[in-house]
Amino acid sequence: MHRQDIPAELQRYFEASNIALALADITEDNPLLLVNEPFRALTGYEDKDVLGRNCRMLQRDAANEQPRAKIRAFLEGGRQASVRTTILNFRKDGRPFVNLLYMSKLKSLSGEVRFLFASQFDVSRSQPELLSAYDAELGQTISRLGPALAESGIVIEGSLMTIANSLATVAQAKLTLADLDAPGFP
Ligand SMILES: Cc1cc2nc3c(=O)[nH]c(=O)nc-3n(C[C@H](O)[C@H](O)[C@H](O)COP(=O)(O)O)c2cc1C
Repeated sequence: MHRQDIPAELQRYFEASNIALALADITEDNPLLLVNEPFRALTGYEDKDVLGRNCRMLQRDAANEQPRAKIRAFLEGGRQASVRTTILNFRKDGRPFVNLLYMSKLKSLSGEVRFLFASQFDVSRSQPELLSAYDAELGQTISRLGPALAESGIVIEGSLMTIANSLATVAQAKLTLADLDAPGFP
């Protein structure tokens, strides 16, 4: 898949967004096709480091068994419209962060999956208010992406299940990072 095969509205939308967004191909192992500036700022990676690769590279050696199983169930199952999970990731400089990952599918009008869409947020270095603001922005992005893509005959599956308890989510993510830093961690 070449960049020119990605609908122009989608590319413009990615460039204009303030939140980290990523788009992947539906072919074998879902290579990344497009990421935006907030994604680059969050992860420290540039386009040349990530495009064409699977986004699991952000996990390095972390086991992440539960979140990965949740993501795989979403990718392999036909019914689930979207998935949301925290997952341990690392920036290019090696600094770990807990990524609150949202994923959904972009489909053609006939129901065929065309692209995989995702958004990332560092919940471990956030505050509950920032998480709520991100949640609101992601919700808006998803609801506005629909009309923006209609011209290209693409629909976004699923709406956003907002984070019910941002205080607890942020606190849990901070604990996860603190555990990583604790002496004696293997
Ligand atoms: C568009 C897209 C964006 C993704 N973004 C991330 C991400 O930011 N961090 C992450 O750990 N995994 C991300 N993933 C999930 C991994 O690529 C992979 O699907 C997941 O680790 C489950 O597969 P695995 O168990 O084979 O690794 C993303 C996947 C897609 C399709």
